[in-house]
Amino acid sequence: MKHFCRSLPTRPGPRLLRLTSESSSKSTILHAARPSPVFTVPHHHRPFTMSADVLAPQEVVYSTNSDRPPMPSDVATGEHTAQKTDAYLDTKLLAPGYGADQVLEKCRKRAHEAGIPEIAVSPQQGQLLSILAKSVGASKILEIGTLWGYSTVFLARSLPKHGQIDTLEIDPLHAKISNQTFIDADLYPFPKIHIGKAVDTLKGLSPPGEAEGLKDAGYDFVFIDADKGNIPEYFQQALRLSRKGALIFIDNAIRGGRITSEYRSNTHEDANIAGLRKFYDWAEKDNGKTVLLSGTQTVGAKHWDGFVLATKL
Ligand SMILES: C[S@@+](CC[C@H](N)C(=O)[O-])C[C@H]1O[C@@H](n2cnc3c(N)ncnc32)[C@H](O)[C@@H]1O
Repeated sequence: MKHFCRSLPTRPGPRLLRLTSESSSKSTILHAARPSPVFTVPHHHRPFTMSADVLAPQEVVYSTNSDRPPMPSDVATGEHTAQKTDAYLDTKLLAPGYGADQVLEKCRKRAHEAGIPEIAVSPQQGQLLSILAKSVGASKILEIGTLWGYSTVFLARSLPKHGQIDTLEIDPLHAKISNQTFIDADLYPFPKIHIGKAVDTLKGLSPPGEAEGLKDAGYDFVFIDADKGNIPEYFQQALRLSRKGALIFIDNAIRGGRITSEYRSNTHEDANIAGLRKFYDWAEKDNGKTVLLSGTQTVGAKHWDGFVLATKL
């Protein structure tokens, strides 16, 4: 594990979208071998997608993430669709400095041109992260899975000036582009990117404030948004590193309902599902002793998915 430095090598990336999931180029190979659905939506349904200005004007290639679940047909047909509803909510609810920040659209475009996949949270979800971080009065935040730093910006902008944000990323290119995002977004506190396998990085971290003997040592908010196969370990580490009352957010925890099926084979998505199911099994055994949990299904820009929220008791 090492911290980000400016001299990291760059990697040539295709101008359009590359097949990958929530992990490094290793999974690119795995995914390329699988049949991968490509979702296309009319341009006006996705006003915030970065690819709008570099792809054909009529349509936007929606996703590089072959794991992305389909939209359930009962919310994706007819005049009223979840996509259109997200676009409507975006026009009504996105705020300056948050989801409506044009600097972030410039950063999104740069990430796209560097070949980074479009798997960041949506602007609405970014604002949800801000709301949650502000609501728990977070001053110390841990993020697992940086990508190009989009969600990190929402989290960092929710912190007080004396705050701290650590973000963990395996891919040096993602870290490099994220650092540029943080500079352009003029973030203060400035996020610290830890490059390496998140499991290894986490083992080397201590609860912030512990060394100083602070009573409320530990992160106030943990956002888990990397590979799902390691979710059980990420969650246990999040518990170790966070204070009592902290909020832990696990993104993409529903996966089109696929979490309800048994692990089937050795594909990347099955590893995601297996990791999530192991976490849910742990939650069942914990039975409300260590954490209080809630799973929420969502539809919209990120299709049918959802998140789990936990508070440490
Ligand atoms: C879904 S993206 C994160 C999106 C970001 N949180 C956002 O919404 O803007 C997942 C990120 O986790 C990183 N990642 C995947 N596996 C990892 C691992 N084992 N350790 C650290 N980072 C990992 C990927 O490289 C990718 O950048």
